Amino acid sequence: MNTWPGLEIIRRLESYTTYGKPSAPLIVGRIAGVEAIFLARHGEGHKIPPHGINYRANLKALADAGVTQVIAIAAVGAMAPWFAPGEIAVPIDLVDYTHGRAHSYSDGEPGSKLEHVEMTHPYTPALRSALFIAAGHAEVTVSGQGVMAVTQGPRLETPAEIQRLLRDGCDMVGMTGMPEAALAAELGLGYACIAVSVNWAAGLSPAGLGIHDEIHASIEAGMSKVQRLLAAALPGLAG
Ligand code: HPA
Repeated sequence: MNTWPGLEIIRRLESYTTYGKPSAPLIVGRIAGVEAIFLARHGEGHKIPPHGINYRANLKALADAGVTQVIAIAAVGAMAPWFAPGEIAVPIDLVDYTHGRAHSYSDGEPGSKLEHVEMTHPYTPALRSALFIAAGHAEVTVSGQGVMAVTQGPRLETPAEIQRLLRDGCDMVGMTGMPEAALAAELGLGYACIAVSVNWAAGLSPAGLGIHDEIHASIEAGMSKVQRLLAAALPGLAG
């Protein structure tokens, strides 16, 4: 996705940070009359794999542009029975299974300082609350629970891996939630995620459907809910 369907575009901002270039130009615009910036984390044409995303540049470019609150939209596989494809959720916690990603601004480079950022609330409580209030106004059903597993990708998981994530207490699985959440915390940005269930995780589909067929069948319904939710939420976040 190069831009967001509900975004009235004002300008494109090419930016460069000390950590390199973000995945794509920042798209500055308005959603429901409120200024917002869209950044396609997989790049224009959706070509950058989850492990190849320059998360540090993405978050830094947003912060440099004046962003203070980030709402991450993530298509995920569902593990919890309450999270059927087409449903959306605002997860409350996460488990990081990624590796080898540039995951911190505390990297020991000259000028960086060592910070042990707190992750007790990986998703900002006030931002999550604002999303629930907006969901009520927009009459969009959104689940307020869920632990996100973040895997390395780009391959999908094996059924045994999904059983392990379930034993770890995870409810959904995606590939981009980390280090994004931790970097947002290091920069002091508010951060919440709207997770869109697009398939049952490997080995869990009651209908035995292939994962890609499930994604194809459910993504539009989920994304239209996200659009309605965002349009309702932004006016409450302005200022
Ligand atoms: N696993 C990991 N990431 C995903 C999935 C999945 O099943 N579906 C969408 N993103």
